Amino acid sequence: MPTFRDRYTHPHGVGGIRDDGGVAESARRARWRRYWDRHSKTYDREMCFVDRVLFRDTRSWVCQQVRGEVLEVAIGTGLNLEHYAPDVALTGIELSPDMLAIARRRADTLGRHVTLRVGDAEALEFPSATFDTVVCTFSLCAIPDHRKALAEMTRVLRPGGVLLLADHVASSVRLLRATQRVLEVVTVPLGGEHFLRRPLEHVRAAGLRIERHDRFAAGIVERLAARKPA
Ligand SMILES: C[S@@+](CC[C@H](N)C(=O)[O-])C[C@H]1O[C@@H](n2cnc3c(N)ncnc32)[C@H](O)[C@@H]1O
Repeated sequence: MPTFRDRYTHPHGVGGIRDDGGVAESARRARWRRYWDRHSKTYDREMCFVDRVLFRDTRSWVCQQVRGEVLEVAIGTGLNLEHYAPDVALTGIELSPDMLAIARRRADTLGRHVTLRVGDAEALEFPSATFDTVVCTFSLCAIPDHRKALAEMTRVLRPGGVLLLADHVASSVRLLRATQRVLEVVTVPLGGEHFLRRPLEHVRAAGLRIERHDRFAAGIVERLAARKPA
């Protein structure tokens, strides 16, 4: 049986046992918020390198496809901001106040009028069918319940709206997948970072139509545009 301490030090409880009955759930969220608050200081430096060597032109690939009212989920430090058209109607939500503070500064520096607020991807505080486009980049690997987050993104999309996703996913090369599996043993408990997820499968299962899709770098990077049925 998990002890009291176990439940409150592991984000998902012990051995995957969830206690979604309130207290444990908010303790889990608070833990990841603190994690990303701490990480905010070095995030941009690290991500610039990964963007250059692994994700390549993905930020502009995503941001150039947005239309109408746009929600960016888990916006982080706002690294996508410079890739949007200057007049985009953008709302961004983010779990970590410190990441969000950097995004605010970035928006000010770029002279962008965006609405930024603290929020949880797993429980979006917007009515259904609010946005024409929903964007999420490099965050579904880090959001604890990525299926719940995807269901929320689909809910807030208008019928006919587009979901734009980019992330690192399970490689298409078996040896690399095995390495990712080993990596996860450390990265999931320490940083909530998953390497074996494949959001595309859940998007398809939810009934969205994949309109554009790219996968590269041994299948590790995947980006897609999927339309919600009208
Ligand atoms: C790897 S960063 C990606 C940030 C940004 N999307 C980018 O492209 O650089 C993952 C982000 O997801 C955020 N995050 C994790 N869980 C979240 C949740 N449940 N709700 C909202 N944001 C969350 C973290 O705070 C962090 O800023």
